Amino acid sequence: MKNERIFLSAPHMGGDELEFVKEAFASNYIAPLGPQVDAFEQEFARKVGAKYATALSSGTAALHLVLRYAGVSDDDEVICSTFTFVASANAIRYQQAWPVFIDSASSSWNMDVDLLREELRRRAEIGRLPKALMLVHLYGQPADIDPILELCERYDIFLLEDAAEALGATYKGKAPGTVGRAGVFSFNGNKIITTSGGGMVVSDDLDLIEKVKFWATQARDSEIYYQHSELGYNYRMSNILAAIGRGQLRVLEERVERKREIFAAYREALGDLPGIEFMPEPEYGLEAGGGRAGRSVEGESWATRWLTCLTIDPEIAGVDRDTVMRELEKHNIESRPTWKPMHLQPLYEGCEVVGGKVAEKLFNKGLCLPSGTGMANGDLERVIKVVRGCW
Ligand SMILES: Cc1ncc(COP(=O)(O)O)c(C=O)c1O
Repeated sequence: MKNERIFLSAPHMGGDELEFVKEAFASNYIAPLGPQVDAFEQEFARKVGAKYATALSSGTAALHLVLRYAGVSDDDEVICSTFTFVASANAIRYQQAWPVFIDSASSSWNMDVDLLREELRRRAEIGRLPKALMLVHLYGQPADIDPILELCERYDIFLLEDAAEALGATYKGKAPGTVGRAGVFSFNGNKIITTSGGGMVVSDDLDLIEKVKFWATQARDSEIYYQHSELGYNYRMSNILAAIGRGQLRVLEERVERKREIFAAYREALGDLPGIEFMPEPEYGLEAGGGRAGRSVEGESWATRWLTCLTIDPEIAGVDRDTVMRELEKHNIESRPTWKPMHLQPLYEGCEVVGGKVAEKLFNKGLCLPSGTGMANGDLERVIKVVRGCW
């Protein structure tokens, strides 16, 4: 069909998912937990290079429970990127703590390390260090983890990585999400792999993983009867959804390749338009000599390009982001603005923010183009034609 809708990032099944779902049906584990969940956790941990993993109902639930493990509670402060999806900040509020937002670096769109360093130095002087730091890896691109890890170690701050959007990326050969005390991933419908909804916590700390599992299954004490000494949640992943996840995990590398191909095609076809700038890919995450983990390809880089993101400067382009979005919509093509920074959200009015102008600019000018790995090249051409037509 000529004018079929093109979605931002539609689910893309690999083929094996149904076999695992059939296994789940055959075993009659149509339940939360079961052998598919155990297998998905083990396979996922192996894939990202973490010791342990636990599968939950969403990435948001995962962020919440890790913050609880970090001891974050009433009126504590947690550092967080301002340029992120609201779930990162909401998890902080679930624990009655307060986010302190840090601006992005324009070279990566992720947390600005210099601003963070200065803010922590200032806070150390006045004895007001945050309890934890939520480091977001945005749009498939790792933040500059090493200097941030060093700061967290220096000031004894719990480092939680929100890698919801960054599965498949590498940072100096490691998966983002495996460097801090814990990492969180999301499998909602638009992520690089999906279980329709779900999340994962990974860590090398067995105590953390066991505690998260315990809270996620209603915190039931080890008694023969139902006894509860702590407040728990119903946050575990179902056995059926884990079966989908196992199938999806098998095609992760292919999905990364295709995401990067899509990005390259857009850049090739649109890069000459005045006023367009694509999300940069800084080199801080490359291994010596370049290359992804396990595949030393000279010059190859390491972000997944989960979504192809760009900015449009209306003064140079003669057209603004919203007009381009409207034009795409007229042609039945879904696109999205980049995240609205947390410090501009009515929900977070009054919260502290360090800087903020970079994230504001990225929001005012930023656009995410359709980036689904199931898109045919003809779909890409349709998008490109409409965007070019706006200039
Ligand atoms: C940066 C970020 N953090 C957290 C989440 C929350 O994940 P979920 O939708 O699985 O709760 C998402 C995605 O939705 C996200 O993009």
